[in-house]
Amino acid sequence: MKSIVIEKPNALNITERPVPEPVAGEVRVKIKLAGICGSDSHIYRGHNPFAQYPRVIGHEFFGVIDAVGDGVDRSRMGERVSVDPVISCGHCYPCSIGKPNVCTSLVVLGVHRDGGFSEYAVVPAKNAWTIPDTVPDDHAVMVEPFTIAANVTGQINPTANDIALIYGAGPMGLTTVQALKRVYKVKTVVIADRIDERLSMAKQCGADWAINNSQQSLQDFLAEKGLKPTIVVDAACHPSILQEAITLASPAARIVLMGFSSDPCQIVQQGITGKELSIYSSRLNANKFPVVIDWLVNGLIDPNQLITHTFDYHHVTDAIELFEKDQQHCCKVLLTFTK
Ligand code: NAI
Ligand code: MN
Ligand code: ZN
Repeated sequence: MKSIVIEKPNALNITERPVPEPVAGEVRVKIKLAGICGSDSHIYRGHNPFAQYPRVIGHEFFGVIDAVGDGVDRSRMGERVSVDPVISCGHCYPCSIGKPNVCTSLVVLGVHRDGGFSEYAVVPAKNAWTIPDTVPDDHAVMVEPFTIAANVTGQINPTANDIALIYGAGPMGLTTVQALKRVYKVKTVVIADRIDERLSMAKQCGADWAINNSQQSLQDFLAEKGLKPTIVVDAACHPSILQEAITLASPAARIVLMGFSSDPCQIVQQGITGKELSIYSSRLNANKFPVVIDWLVNGLIDPNQLITHTFDYHHVTDAIELFEKDQQHCCKVLLTFTK
């Protein structure tokens, strides 16, 4: 089989490897589609501190089970599946309270272990989630990015009374807009970004207001409209955003952070305690595959609004370069492995 291997930073090869055999408890997935994410590019460029090389990247992938290991029901052969990249131990403290996404021995497919940019991948059977026939392939491959939004929104119990402010209209901001508007039906969603094309996509995804905050003051806009955000999601992840979010938030608001910056950020405690703000963080997803599959079955979200490009996997280098360089026109870029 062919696999897309990052041998070391900035060295990507499409390599011939033996087709892997599933061991007990595993299934083998013949990959059909995979999505490119910022973290794939970071591993490629040597900017992911967790990555070990060589590595088959890719943690957003969909395919068909074509072999099963011992102890796995043989009737799963032929099943269409999306794979949860989060592998956890099941018994540590975070696992015991329903947070396998921060398991003390967390393994993420495509980061710590070989992932889905390959013609075949072996994965734990319980990570391979059945996709109902009514959900098309290009929706199935988008389950993982929407699980990030499901995890973010799952922290804060959004309601129809909420006013949400989202920083960043990249793939993560857009999945979050769809979840807040279409699943939770929050009253108002304001999104801020510096790129007008991305702001247009955000409006298509359901945002009520899309603000270019490099040209317009967000504070002035919110004041003019009389909007006090009761939810703030930082899907842009610059360290300076937290203090601004604290300033703009309504009393009793919830703020969710998604960033992994190692730079310090300065915040004033009074702004948090004075308004009794709740600050959450969200990493990967905790058992959100069935949640998002349900959203898809019920037609609540539309992944096609995020998919801008599809490449055959042989052109993966072009695909990643376009994804990195053209934020105006690229959102989710897919790779096809088999037709
Ligand atoms: P992206 O880079 O495509 O999107 C970020 C967007 O934020 C860009 O459109 C950029 O123009 C905008 N932006 C930057 N600074 C801004 C500011 N000060 N105000 C408003 N907008 C600003 O990235 P993507 O894929 O959407 O991911 C977003 C962030 O979420 C990344 O930092 C990524 O590392 C993080 N992430 C976190 C995950 C988690 O589980 N916690 C999972 C996936 C991504
Ligand atoms: Mn991803
Ligand atoms: Zn664990």
